Amino acid sequence: MRILLVEDCDEVRQLYVMLLDNIFDNVEITESISGNNAVLKLKEKSFDLILCDYEMPGGNGDVVYYFIKDNNIDSIFILFTSKDSTEITERHNFPEREGKDFFISKSNNFNEFKQRLISIASNYYTAPLDEGYRKVRIYNFWKFNKALCDIYLRLSNQKYVKIIHSGDSYTRKDIEKYAHKNQNFLYINAEDYQNFSVTLGQTPFLSYIDTKNPENATVTVHAMIHELVQSVGINETAIKMAEKTVANIVEMAKDDKNLYAMILRTRDKRDYLYDHSYLLSCLCGHLAWQMNWSSIKTLRRMNWSSAETLRKITLASIFHDLTLDNPDLAMINDLDDPALQNFTEGEIKKFKDHPSKMAELLRQHKTLPPDVDHIVLQHHEKVDGTGFPRKLSAKRISPLSCIFIIAHDFVDELYKCDFDETNIIPIMEKFAKKYNSGNFKDPIHAFIRSFDVKIDIED
Ligand SMILES: [Fe+2]
Ligand SMILES: [Fe+2]
Repeated sequence: MRILLVEDCDEVRQLYVMLLDNIFDNVEITESISGNNAVLKLKEKSFDLILCDYEMPGGNGDVVYYFIKDNNIDSIFILFTSKDSTEITERHNFPEREGKDFFISKSNNFNEFKQRLISIASNYYTAPLDEGYRKVRIYNFWKFNKALCDIYLRLSNQKYVKIIHSGDSYTRKDIEKYAHKNQNFLYINAEDYQNFSVTLGQTPFLSYIDTKNPENATVTVHAMIHELVQSVGINETAIKMAEKTVANIVEMAKDDKNLYAMILRTRDKRDYLYDHSYLLSCLCGHLAWQMNWSSIKTLRRMNWSSAETLRKITLASIFHDLTLDNPDLAMINDLDDPALQNFTEGEIKKFKDHPSKMAELLRQHKTLPPDVDHIVLQHHEKVDGTGFPRKLSAKRISPLSCIFIIAHDFVDELYKCDFDETNIIPIMEKFAKKYNSGNFKDPIHAFIRSFDVKIDIED
């Protein structure tokens, strides 16, 4: 069953994703945050049912409803709002399509919602065999540091094993120890479901701050941003979370006198998608602070050490790979990599398009500083002009992107040598030769200098 869920409030939308997951079997839910965006989704594919909020910035429920009527789309349409139903129905002569249009009021009576939905879409409903547990998408657990109830892993149809006890503290890493990479759900007892749902619907992603462990908080917030980008693209919540992460990283980079220690701390982190971005932003942050005393003219001209530049490059580090959902794909760096053949055609296309796709999403948000989209667009360009998407020469890649590309390459080299610090000098020696052209020249000088190592660079 294919459902389009249109709701601008992230907490409410994620709550209803969970409720829908537990009502229909094999449900495929597409999320949308506005009427205009929902229309784009409706142009791309068809849905059996549309569950649509009324008041939303960027096109309200009317936009969706009129589009359906004007285009004779056959889907069930449920107007779903906390507004007084008569206010809308009288004004719009709703429902108009007999047996296709319905109205549901938002409330915390989730069982009533379920019964109403089953009666509307009875063709798609089959009673579940097992009523004892409810499924919850894993990212919902990242909002909390303490388990609201017992959390289970499903081993088979009838077999569930408790992995976290109610009230226990946990981190995202603890959950990922148990859950397989392709596993989307964990389970809770049916009797905990109502309370869990109410709390979930009231807890914003933004409330998550693990003050005792800022590194852990940063990577978890990054995973939350990824979840939002994957489900609805970049929205205000994603930007707010990214800005908060930037502030954390800038603070950490300022304090981090010892870059080596920071690199070593990353050693046991193996979640490439988030961890390489995190290390990358710390590295850029560190470099920016080092540049305060820079004697290199170009870098002074670029005002590389300004807070604004640091913000731009850190935002780019956070967002650059987030349209990719598979961390293994994020590890690939160029289109000739033979490992790319292990992926499906769709995944390869996604990989080829990811710099432009993310740059396009970033450009739509005027609150983000300029250049962030540019750095992201160029992050797979190469010093020898063989990169993608544009095969730009070293002279045409912007200096900010050059720094980003060098730092990203450095992080990848660290992963390749398993964070062995004895390799840092050989990597720098290699980089001194590799990046000694075009707009890379000054950034590579600065980069090497920031590590406080002596390496000869030919001029
Ligand atoms: Fe990357
Ligand atoms: Fe990438």
